Order: sequence, then C-alpha cells, then structure tokens
Amino acid sequence: MEFGDVIPFLENKNILVTGATGFLAKIFVEKKLRVQPNIQKIYLLLRAEDDNSALQRLQNEVIERDLFRVLKENWGSNFNSFLTQKIVLVPGDVSLGEDLGVKEPTLSQKMWSQLDVIVNLAATTNFDERYDVALGTNTLGAEHLVRFAKKCVRLQVLVHVSTVSSNLMFYTRKSTN
Ligand SMILES: NC(=O)c1ccc[n+]([C@@H]2O[C@H](COP(=O)([O-])OP(=O)(O)OC[C@H]3O[C@@H](n4cnc5c(N)ncnc54)[C@H](OP(=O)(O)O)[C@@H]3O)[C@@H](O)[C@H]2O)c1
Repeated sequence: MEFGDVIPFLENKNILVTGATGFLAKIFVEKKLRVQPNIQKIYLLLRAEDDNSALQRLQNEVIERDLFRVLKENWGSNFNSFLTQKIVLVPGDVSLGEDLGVKEPTLSQKMWSQLDVIVNLAATTNFDERYDVALGTNTLGAEHLVRFAKKCVRLQVLVHVSTVSSNLMFYTRKSTN
C-alpha cells in the first residue's frame, strides 16, 4: 500500500486504537477524523472502571485538548453528534489478557466481527517503570493484542508501535493458520 492510499483505504473501516489517552493516539485519532470523516467507527480502548469514567477520560484528556480545535470548528454544533456517531469507547487494559480487559462480551463480539484495522499504542513510556508493569503492558500486552487480532475475522492491518520499533503488518487470515 502506498502512503497516499491510506486515506481512501480508511473509508468505511472500523479501527481499534489502544492507548487512547496517549500522545500518539490523540494525534492519530484527531487526524483520521479530520481527513477521513467517512471512517466507520473508531473503537478507543482506554483504562477506566466503567463507561462513565471512560467518557470522562475521553472528554478531559482527549477531546478538550487544543489539538481538537480545528475539528470542533469544522463541525460546529454537530461536533458532539459526529463524535457520538464515530467513537465507541472501550474500557479495557491490554495487560489483563487476550480479552484486553473488556468486560462487556457484546462489545468484544462486535469488535471481532467488525474491525478492519488495529493500532496498538498502549504502552508504559516510563523508562524507570517497575519490571512487572513494563512486562505486563509492553510485552504481554502486545502478545494479548495479537491474540485478540486473530479473532477479528475481517482484520486487514495490525500496527504495533513500540519504543524500539514500529511494525505494520498486513494481515491475512491465511497467515494466522
Ligand atoms: N511519542 C513519541 O514520539 C514516540 C516515538 C516512537 C515510539 N513511540 C512509542 O509509541 C507508543 C505510544 O507512545 P505515546 O507517546 O503515545 O505514549 P504515552 O503518551 O505515554 O501514552 C501511552 C498510552 O498507553 C496507555 N496505557 C498504558 N498502559 C496501558 C494498559 N495496560 N492498557 C491500556 N492502555 C495502557 C496509557 O494510558 P493511561 O493514560 O491510562 O496511563 C496512555 O494512553 C509507545 O510504545 C512509545 O514508546 C512514541
């Protein structure tokens, strides 16, 4: 895939982005919503106890940032309904297992049947992190993500970004067997 093909490729696609409150994820989400508003859905996985605290984190740590100003201006009074239509919040934690800590089975089923793209940006970026925490998120979390991805029947692309490498995998069902 050429770089210029990415925007048309994302039309009508369902994407899961992990690490939703992080630096890179915010930039990724804002840009995708701005340049490809015909994206189907962006599932945003973030650490939260429940839907309400996930919504609060989205508002306070993502949407309220100045980064989203242009998007807000572009959509005006329709901004909130645009977001509601495009964003699905996924309270979860990639360190918790291959279900990614998602408690609602129907939400997991929906992602397994609908996701076309997964972008894994969840990580601890603290270089002095406790060993078990770093292992749980940055190593086992990545493994859990791959196991989760294998259940996604439509998945075409899995992007994993880490401190030492960024990998883009074009995913075909055959290659997982
Ligand atoms: N920023 C850069 O310039 C850059 C350059 C090259 C590579 N990278 C790599 O890209 C990745 C993302 O970087 P970043 O700068 O966006 O990092 P960041 O700002 O520290 O964000 C990390 C995100 O991961 C989330 N997270 C941490 N542990 C989690 C878990 N167990 N389950 C789910 N989410 C979890 C954090 O959520 P909480 O808010 O809940 O803690 C936060 O949203 C990292 O692997 C980093 O090394 C970044």
